[in-house]
Amino acid sequence: MKHHTQLKLAGGLFLLAAALSYAAPASENWENLCTKCHGADGKGQTKVGKKLSLKDYTDAKVQAELKDADMAKAITGGIKDKAGKDKMKPYTDLTTAEVTDLVAYIRKFKS
Ligand code: HEC
Repeated sequence: MKHHTQLKLAGGLFLLAAALSYAAPASENWENLCTKCHGADGKGQTKVGKKLSLKDYTDAKVQAELKDADMAKAITGGIKDKAGKDKMKPYTDLTTAEVTDLVAYIRKFKS
């Protein structure tokens, strides 16, 4: 019985290590790819963010209107303006896990 638990634990740690080597943590991706516009605090009050009139992710109402699937779609598919120009470029290099983590990360801005 005890042996079995240890094996399971070892397997779990192996999977965790494997996942970490593929995906950057959401905080790192956010910092590197997203803060320029959305801000480190998610409020979108950066120079670019203000120009693009970004949503404030600390606003509970904004959060309530966002669906996880739409957020993931925006991250992987990007957002275009009416003229078809990229307002936010698609992040096609991110793994599905990284996108899911980023969505969860954005949810945590809600105050
Ligand atoms: C060049 C500026 C820019 C960068 C960089 C950027 N975004 Fe955006 N993002 C936008 C704009 C513009 C919108 C659409 C307006 C809005 O929704 O506030 C948007 C919308 C979104 C949305 C859709 C939800 C919504 O607010 O309608 C999500 C989710 C999102 N961004 C996440 C991210 C993530 C995660 C990253 C980094 C991987 C990122 N963004 C990087 C500009 C940017």
